[in-house]
Amino acid sequence: MSLKDKIIFVTGASSGIGEACVRGFAAAGARLLIAARRRDCLDKLAAELKVPCHCLTLDVRDRAAVEAAVAHLPAEWTSIDILLNNAGLARGIGKIYDADQEDWDEMIDTNVKGLLYISHAVIPGMVERGHGHIINIGSLAGHDVYPGGSVYCSTKASVKALTFGMRLDLHGTGIRVSSVDPGLCETEFSLVRFHGDSERAAKAYHGVRPLTGADIAEVVLFCATRQEHVNIVDVLVTPTAQSAISLVARKQ
Ligand SMILES: NC(=O)c1ccc[n+]([C@@H]2O[C@H](COP(=O)([O-])OP(=O)(O)OC[C@H]3O[C@@H](n4cnc5c(N)ncnc54)[C@H](OP(=O)(O)O)[C@@H]3O)[C@@H](O)[C@H]2O)c1
Repeated sequence: MSLKDKIIFVTGASSGIGEACVRGFAAAGARLLIAARRRDCLDKLAAELKVPCHCLTLDVRDRAAVEAAVAHLPAEWTSIDILLNNAGLARGIGKIYDADQEDWDEMIDTNVKGLLYISHAVIPGMVERGHGHIINIGSLAGHDVYPGGSVYCSTKASVKALTFGMRLDLHGTGIRVSSVDPGLCETEFSLVRFHGDSERAAKAYHGVRPLTGADIAEVVLFCATRQEHVNIVDVLVTPTAQSAISLVARKQ
């Protein structure tokens, strides 16, 4: 399926996987609706794209703001063809009995509730038009758990369940629902997880060739460009050096 002139809504477009997907979709001729909190990053990205682009400064945790942003889209941006639910984050690593509960709230509010708010705002239009595709960015962490990561993993297990649930709820509507679940991928993810501690963040990728945002964008674009009768349900993608979430072959 050609993406030319399709409207694609990408959340978390200001860096990493989201930004790489935006670049991939733009190269395929799509029109991009891009959202994140950091407006400067969105504006910079939009200025580089050679396709129509509309920026939304949006915190996906703010339900009223999400509803208003989608309800007040300019008329030419309302017929969203593809929603890429990508905005998300991990915060800290902590045991269930001593982790920072602010970190828990932020992960649950962003990865689960934020994804729900965006979906609730966008999907009705797709149902009305009888056409659309939702691609959720899950994680290897939704299939596996690591010590100190139980809450992040539970949010991604939730995304896995929501992807399945969306497919059930949209049964017979013609709307596709897919999920792309990355393993270790080098983005701003670890820097955000460790609250800006770049030394600690770098250790996550030490001695290994991780995935890049561009690797994941290739897979997302593959899902998005199948013929309309084909739905890619779930793609789990890891670096070759990662056999399970806690089993990464690192060169010293
Ligand atoms: N990197 C990995 O190893 C990995 C592996 C598996 C899954 N993932 C998933 O991939 C997705 C993208 O992460 P990434 O690796 O590309 O990390 P990243 O570079 O940190 O990008 C995260 C994006 O999410 C946005 N975001 C975070 N909180 C938000 C909020 N409250 N409202 C709106 N946007 C928000 C950020 O934008 P602003 O800060 O500008 O708002 C940013 O654009 C996430 O769902 C993550 O869980 C990552």
